[in-house]
Amino acid sequence: MLSVVVLISGTGSNLLALLKATESPLVPVRILAVGSDGPALGLAHADLYGVPTFVVERSRFPDRESWAKKLQETVEHFNPDLVALAGFMKILPPAFVNRFSPNLINIHASLLPLFPGANAVRDTLAAGVSETGATIHVVDAGVDTGPIILQRKVQVMPGDDVPTLHERIKVHERELLIDTIIGVAEKRIDLAKI
Ligand code: GRF
Repeated sequence: MLSVVVLISGTGSNLLALLKATESPLVPVRILAVGSDGPALGLAHADLYGVPTFVVERSRFPDRESWAKKLQETVEHFNPDLVALAGFMKILPPAFVNRFSPNLINIHASLLPLFPGANAVRDTLAAGVSETGATIHVVDAGVDTGPIILQRKVQVMPGDDVPTLHERIKVHERELLIDTIIGVAEKRIDLAKI
């Protein structure tokens, strides 16, 4: 059984898909806890599934390092095999990344290495490209630069805006996140060798 702590910042649709997937007794994954960096709507999904939640608010700490140390200690308390960033919108400092990577993964709404950063879908549309995608990668010290685990292409349609394109990408993000975590649990994916 692979134990996972999920970190979110927003609506948590990826988290919800993962919680649904792990309901099956055939899926050897257990979500131990869900954390966020503020009052995220998605925490309600964890509540619904009876999964413990925690919030470590950035604004309550004088700097990023002390905030991340508290976040690290809180995650460590659950002793997970894997930490999944599922729409977690804060950059984690090297101490946190070094503690958990390569067992620290992130989803991203572009075909990395194209369009890293917090505004991937907006940047994709601004660039006028006809194809984008979804990526899941191991987190390293950079921003969206870590080794790519799985990727899927998504077409940009005429008339797409940020919400329509993002929602189409997220359908694939959810599948990639679930496939990756189950792959790690079933030892088909070795994060140390990506
Ligand atoms: C995802 O598109 C993720 O790639 C991005 O934030 C979004 C989170 O969506 N970083 P949700 O909160 O899981 O609905």
